[in-house]
Amino acid sequence: MPGPILSLHGIRKNYGPVRALDGVDFAIMPGEIVSLVGDNGAGKSTLVKIMSGAVQPSAGQIRFEGTPVVFTSPHDARDAGIETVYQDLAVVPELDAEANLFLGRELTGTGFLSRFFLDRKRMRAAAEAHIRSLKVNLKSIRQPVGLLSGGQRQSVAVARSILWGRKMIILDEPTAALGVRESRGVLDLILELRARNFAVLMVSHSMPHVFEVSDRIFVLRQGRSAAVLDRHGTTMNEIVGLITGIPVSADMTRAG
Ligand SMILES: Nc1ncnc2c1ncn2[C@@H]1O[C@H](COP(=O)(O)OP(=O)(O)O)[C@@H](O)[C@H]1O
Ligand SMILES: [Mg+2]
Repeated sequence: MPGPILSLHGIRKNYGPVRALDGVDFAIMPGEIVSLVGDNGAGKSTLVKIMSGAVQPSAGQIRFEGTPVVFTSPHDARDAGIETVYQDLAVVPELDAEANLFLGRELTGTGFLSRFFLDRKRMRAAAEAHIRSLKVNLKSIRQPVGLLSGGQRQSVAVARSILWGRKMIILDEPTAALGVRESRGVLDLILELRARNFAVLMVSHSMPHVFEVSDRIFVLRQGRSAAVLDRHGTTMNEIVGLITGIPVSADMTRAG
């Protein structure tokens, strides 16, 4: 039985007088999709930023594959094999899919002189093979991604994280602002991530999407863990009740 990829122990985060997170414990296993849900201000983004190294906790411990670590920057988390797809800054619209896949990590040649130059041919071949293996539906990988649909853009961002991540992918609202068909493509990619044994943490407000792909659901309320539930052992009503702190009975929903 393998241990967790990442675990959090008693994580607290203060922003001045605001206690954004207050003693959060959490663990995620390889090959597992966990959805992180909660109301606005619950602390989801803060928790994601702590896991991705963008924010440092005020107290508590992070363990990576069982070993205590300190992520002082997103670079540290990426080095450990954790990639994060942020909602807005995911891709550069002016660049094509190939350039976005290799952004900041361009391949160079391996020869004495060629190592100083970008190896465009190798990047193009790798980008095409990668996009094809993920069955991402792009007419051309050479179009600026700003001209693609929202779903295709998000797929390029996720494909990029799969190309570089080795252990864990964090997705901040990957299907927000996407249509039904577009969401489908992104959800399929998330399932593909699980098939490749990544640990996947997905922040989402969409209960249907949460219930479609998650193995477990982690509910944050006012900076504390309200519950971590097995997807098959809970209902949308129960999750909504935990998010708001107001239990929703089945009768109330029927009446509404
Ligand atoms: N950089 C910051 N400075 C001060 N307060 C912050 C900062 N980031 C988040 N907060 C506060 O921390 C709490 C949790 O915010 P956040 O993690 O963004 O929640 P969520 O993503 O669930 O909406 C909120 O009260 C928010 O106002
Ligand atoms: Mg947020």
